[in-house]
Amino acid sequence: MNLEGSSAVVTGASSGIGEAIALELASRGARLTLTARREDRLDELGGRITSTGGEAPLLVAADLRKAEDITRIFEESRARWGGLDILINNAGLGRKAGFHDGATEDWREMLEVNVLALTVACREALGCFDGERGGHIVNVSSMAGHRIPPRGGFYAATKFAVRAITECLRQELRALGSPSRVSEISPGFVTTEFHEVFYRGDAEQVAAGRPDYRVLDPRDVAASVIHILEAPDHVAIHDVLIRSNEQES
Ligand SMILES: NC(=O)c1ccc[n+]([C@@H]2O[C@H](COP(=O)([O-])OP(=O)(O)OC[C@H]3O[C@@H](n4cnc5c(N)ncnc54)[C@H](OP(=O)(O)O)[C@@H]3O)[C@@H](O)[C@H]2O)c1
Repeated sequence: MNLEGSSAVVTGASSGIGEAIALELASRGARLTLTARREDRLDELGGRITSTGGEAPLLVAADLRKAEDITRIFEESRARWGGLDILINNAGLGRKAGFHDGATEDWREMLEVNVLALTVACREALGCFDGERGGHIVNVSSMAGHRIPPRGGFYAATKFAVRAITECLRQELRALGSPSRVSEISPGFVTTEFHEVFYRGDAEQVAAGRPDYRVLDPRDVAASVIHILEAPDHVAIHDVLIRSNEQES
């Protein structure tokens, strides 16, 4: 796909991997709808994109735990850009919430954002894609969706679900004869705010959990997402497992 002039929704664009993907897409001339809850972060990112010559993105403050917010993202995107070519289903979170002592509310939040919102967004995006040209969905999964990390807890369960959803959707699209593609990317440890959220800002636990080797930067993940999107129409890159060369599992 030629990204110049394409229309893309990026969820979780206010930090980390989503922000890096937004910057890469903007630098290639994509028309962006950027969404997250933190409006100040979206404003700041929008300013950075326009100051470097990119087209002003549409910024939509939304809480993906609310179904009406998800549909609003796609309505506003369609009204602004007239159609949709790409969905980057990136928003997600982990909470330290083991199975023996986790809080039900933490499990619910991970389930609602990582699984349910991602699924609703897939459906909404497919409804916006051009019937003949199709579009491309990239779900951000995790290495935690491929093997069970120590203390992965409920987070790993949600990322295994993303893997199942991506493959089931691929099969549905094939059965429908749709030209649309669905891919996923499964990163290992990436330096983002993910770990602050996971440990609820407990700096000691965040520091203790940080590897002592060079981990991935969000831009490393963004570069692979661009590779997925720029593949020729007949090529479906299903999943990219990407981790630091020094990460053991
Ligand atoms: N960092 C890693 O090591 C790693 C590894 C593998 C996979 N991943 C995956 O990568 C994706 C991005 O995470 P990240 O590492 O970039 O972490 P991050 O910096 O914490 O970014 C998470 C993004 O998700 C958004 N988000 C969370 N809850 C939301 C909600 N209820 N409504 C709307 N947006 C919400 C956040 O925006 P607001 O808070 O502004 O709403 C933020 O933009 C996630 O799916 C994560 O599971 C991360």
